[in-house]
Amino acid sequence: MKILVVGGGGREHAIIRSLKKNPAITEIFACPGNGGIAADATCVAIGATEIEKIAAFAVETKIDYAVVAPDDPLVLGCVDALEAKGIPCFGPRANAAIIEGSKVFSKNLMKKYGIPTAEYEVFDDMNAALKYLDTAPIPTVIKADGLALGKGVIIAETRDDAKTAVRDMMEGGIFGKSGSRVVVEEFLTGPEVSVLAFTDGNVVKPMVSSMDHKRIGDGDTGLNTGGMGTVAPNPYYTKEIADECMETIFLPTIRAMNEEGRTFKGCLYFGLMLTPNGPKVIEYNCRFGDPETQVVLPLLESDLLTVMQATTNGTLADVDVSFADKHACCVILASAGYPTAYKKGFEMTFTDEALAATYVAGAKLENGKLVTSGGRVTGTTAIADSLEDAIREAYRLSDGVKFEGAYRRSDIGQKALKASK
Ligand code: AMP
Ligand code: GLY
Repeated sequence: MKILVVGGGGREHAIIRSLKKNPAITEIFACPGNGGIAADATCVAIGATEIEKIAAFAVETKIDYAVVAPDDPLVLGCVDALEAKGIPCFGPRANAAIIEGSKVFSKNLMKKYGIPTAEYEVFDDMNAALKYLDTAPIPTVIKADGLALGKGVIIAETRDDAKTAVRDMMEGGIFGKSGSRVVVEEFLTGPEVSVLAFTDGNVVKPMVSSMDHKRIGDGDTGLNTGGMGTVAPNPYYTKEIADECMETIFLPTIRAMNEEGRTFKGCLYFGLMLTPNGPKVIEYNCRFGDPETQVVLPLLESDLLTVMQATTNGTLADVDVSFADKHACCVILASAGYPTAYKKGFEMTFTDEALAATYVAGAKLENGKLVTSGGRVTGTTAIADSLEDAIREAYRLSDGVKFEGAYRRSDIGQKALKASK
C-alpha cells in the first residue's frame, strides 16, 4: 500500500513512524515532510496547502490512502479534493473542519447543543466590543475568530489590556482577517487536558489523555508557543472525568455535527479545562495535536492504519483502539529566541539512541546534512512504566540532540508528577 501524509512537522513524523509498523505499507510519501522525516518517508516538494497539486500527485502516484494532518489544508478542503479524485482519506471534510476553523462556529455549536464551555459574546463591530468590555468580568479572554497559528488567544488581566487586544485584532489586524471578528470569553480556571479522539461520525474512541506545556518558560511563564513538551496520560483526567466527558462533551459534539449536516470523521481534539463546575471545552481542533501526538501515538498498541481506515469507512465500532498502560514524555528543543525571532541553518547531530527517539519538526537537508529550519526543531519521546522514569529518560535522550542555541524547558512533566503524587 502507498500512503500519503500531508504536513511536515513533528506530529507528521510521529504519524509516519506509527504507520510504518504496518507491514502492508510499502511506501509513505510526505507533502512536504521535512529533512528529518526524509529518513522515514519520501518527501515531495509540495506545500501542505497546495491542495490541487497534492490531489494531482496522489492520483499520479496511485496513493491508496491519504492522511491530512494540519489544520489549514483541512479547513481549505484537502480531504474534499482528494475524495473527489477517489482517494480515501483520514480527516474531516472542510464543512466539518470549521469546528476549528471558526471559533464563532464552535462556540455557537456548543451553546445550541448545551455542551459545557465558557460564556461568551461575539463581536463584528469594534466599538460594540469596547463598550461590552467596560462592564465585562475581568480577567477576560479575547479570541480571533479564524485560524491564527494557535496564537489568536489573549488573556487580559485588566480592562485596558482587553481593550488593547480588541483594537489590535479588529483595527491593527495583528492576526490578519482572522481577527475581524472576535469572541470575548469568560476566563475559566482549572487543570487543562488534551483528549484526541478517533471518530467515524458515529462512534467515538478517545485516545490516552495528555498534557501540553504551551508557554516558553519554566513554571508556565512567558509567551505562548506551539507547545514545548507533553506527557501522557494526564493525571488529572481520571476515569470518572473521562466518563463524564464522554456523556456531556464527546458524544454530544459528534451528534451536534451530524445534526448540522457536518459529519466529522478523523481525529477530533478536545482541549478541556477541568473547572470547579466540571469539564468545559476550551477549544476544538479538527486534527491531531502537536506535540500531543508525539506522546499519544507511541503508546498506541493497535495498528494506526486500521483505525484510521475504520474512521473513513464508518466501522470504528469494530476495531480495537488500545493503549499501553505506560507513561510517555516528549521534550521539545527549540531555536534560541523562539517564539519570536530566531536564526536557522545550524547543523544538527544525534546520538543513535536519540535519533531513534526523536521526531523532527523544523529541519531541512542541506548538502546531505540536517540543519535547523524552524522554531520548534525536535521532540524527543521516552516511554516508561512510571511518569518519573519517562521524564528522566526523555531528558537524557534529548541531551543526545545537539545544535547551536538549542533551548528546552527544564520542567516538562513536573506539574503532572506533582498532581500524580
Ligand atoms: P488556544 O489557542 O485556544 O489553545 O488557547 C490557548 C490557551 O489559552 C489555552 O490553552 C488556555 O490555557 C488559555 N485559554 C483559552 N481560553 C480560555 C478561557 N476561556 N479561560 C482561561 N484560559 C483560556
Ligand atoms: N498542542 C496544541 C495544538 O496542537 O493545537
